[in-house]
Amino acid sequence: MKRMYSLIALLLIFLGFAFVKEQHQTAAKQAVPTVGILQLLSHPALDAIHKGIIHGLAEEGYHVGKNVKIDFQNAQNDQSNLKTMSARFVNEDADAMIGIATPAAQALANASSKTPVVLGAITDPEGAHLVKSNEHPGNNVTGVSDQAPLKSQLQLIQKIMPQMRTLGIIYTSSDDSATAQYHQFAALCKKEHVRLKAYSIANTNDLNQVAQEMVSQVDAIYVPTDNTVASAMQTLVATATAKKVPVFPAVDTMVKAGGLATLSINQYKLGVETGKMTAAILKGKKPADTPIHFERTGEMTVNLSQAKKLGITLPESVIKEAKENGEVFK
Ligand code: TRP
Repeated sequence: MKRMYSLIALLLIFLGFAFVKEQHQTAAKQAVPTVGILQLLSHPALDAIHKGIIHGLAEEGYHVGKNVKIDFQNAQNDQSNLKTMSARFVNEDADAMIGIATPAAQALANASSKTPVVLGAITDPEGAHLVKSNEHPGNNVTGVSDQAPLKSQLQLIQKIMPQMRTLGIIYTSSDDSATAQYHQFAALCKKEHVRLKAYSIANTNDLNQVAQEMVSQVDAIYVPTDNTVASAMQTLVATATAKKVPVFPAVDTMVKAGGLATLSINQYKLGVETGKMTAAILKGKKPADTPIHFERTGEMTVNLSQAKKLGITLPESVIKEAKENGEVFK
């Protein structure tokens, strides 16, 4: 009998411990915020932004697996994935949601008008109807823009290609970010008296054929922040290099992938800024009155092996700037 009492006592003690532990875990779970990250698709720029976000969160004290839970979803460029993944974040009661690329951000903004949405490198938040204005977003959406310094980029092209007669631009007609930049770039070229010829594609299937046509008609190619072209740079670069036509992309990661040079916003840093802004929002900052962050300074990025393949000598000043203040790919 005595033995049975002690057994029961032991059992009660055990259950007591289990209960306390369980309580503790629930409390801990509630204290750890969840951040849903929705990325449109994989290409080097968006992947760099994703990495930067994790870094930016950590810089502000949110360490993955410790005091923040990240639910990362890649939509593989599929509209219905974007929708279900956004709904998933809302269902799991995420504390903030980050959209990497315009269609991802739009899906998140459509899924909730309450949960804070942070834009991860969205070119034109106002034009994409994500915020009322860049200065005063007004709703549950704010974030970081990756607007490229188009004027400096055009000047760089002219510096490297003083004999250029026709510049081509290629963009995907359904990509809001790329078409917004196409319009801005076209206006700029008109003002600067640069002859610009535009080529649009519907998807990657068109790229090869359009690129073939393009390289026989232009002296150089400019590529805006276009998600489709960014994910198929090799196709464009192979075709252009065969005809010795240089590709000048809007971003550093596309120079690494075979572009010749650019003066670009560092994609990783854009991610870091996005992560930091998300941290501020987790700490209570309101998206409605947090202006869109614009990264102003570009970094010179050059690809020397590409210059060699094209038989183009890059100006010393450009290489020097890239070495000192940007990136040189060999
Ligand atoms: N700005 C793009 C968008 O809003 C996303 C993006 C960021 C991007 N960096 C890029 C696209 C580089 C192509 C290349 O959708």
